[in-house]
Amino acid sequence: MVVSRSVSEHNREMWERLADAGYAYTRPQGRLPSSESGLRRYVDPHGVLKSTDLDGAKVLVLAGGGGWHPIIFAKLGAKVTCLDISPKQLDTVASLARKKGAKVTIEEGDMADLSRFRDSSFHVVWHVHSLVFAEHPEMVFREVGNVLKANGIYRTETMHPFGFRMYEGWTGTGWTMRTAYQDPGPVEFSDPFWDDGNVRVEAPTLEYGHTIERIVNGIVAAGMVVDGLWEYTPDPVSDPTPGSDEHVEATFPIFVEVSARKLRAGR
Ligand SMILES: C[S@@+](CC[C@H](N)C(=O)[O-])C[C@H]1O[C@@H](n2cnc3c(N)ncnc32)[C@H](O)[C@@H]1O
Repeated sequence: MVVSRSVSEHNREMWERLADAGYAYTRPQGRLPSSESGLRRYVDPHGVLKSTDLDGAKVLVLAGGGGWHPIIFAKLGAKVTCLDISPKQLDTVASLARKKGAKVTIEEGDMADLSRFRDSSFHVVWHVHSLVFAEHPEMVFREVGNVLKANGIYRTETMHPFGFRMYEGWTGTGWTMRTAYQDPGPVEFSDPFWDDGNVRVEAPTLEYGHTIERIVNGIVAAGMVVDGLWEYTPDPVSDPTPGSDEHVEATFPIFVEVSARKLRAGR
């Protein structure tokens, strides 16, 4: 399978840099909940898995380095594999898993090539905050469709194609998009630094604001049926400074989440 190595390799290097610097988003956000309902709410705010028994289920956490998700699925009884392109992001998961007594299988690789896994081998593929780094989302969906069992569940969450294009787009009286909605290229920003208030790192990741039709139709073409779609900003602030990032987030949804189900076994 031909994967666009240049974008993947570039983003790998950027994530290694961010993790090296200890940038906040390379560590889990918030505390690990203690109750089963708290664990489920943390990973699955819209209840996509509410009827799924995770005990013994095979879960692939895709591009899941640096976060709680693999640990949480393991705590919920699942047999978890976490794949990510950044070894340092995976080291964080491995060390969290050791500390929390959770078993997670670690795989270093590209989300657009899951050929190392057998077809129809996972009940769930969980893919949050990272489709934005894929140049060709259809390749990722095709791979997900291959590795999911019949009736298996896929959930992806990524930057909303409107909200994402509005950052840095304040004209003084309104918003303008950084690139045309249908432009398939990376959305470029003037500031290549990531700044969490403590750490400032130059890491110009290549990120894509995939359109809703591209996401939905790509998932469908991969043999899945979409059964939920949410557009939202978590906890938008009231009365944000005009033109600020918080203003973008209060005005437009910044995330889009899609859940889907594999229709039948095989390709
Ligand atoms: C914002 S982090 C999200 C991590 C995790 N899903 C979470 O929510 O905590 C994005 C992750 O995507 C990974 N990534 C970027 N491009 C990738 C690719 N082509 N294949 C696999 N992982 C990739 C990065 O290494 C990074 O760990």
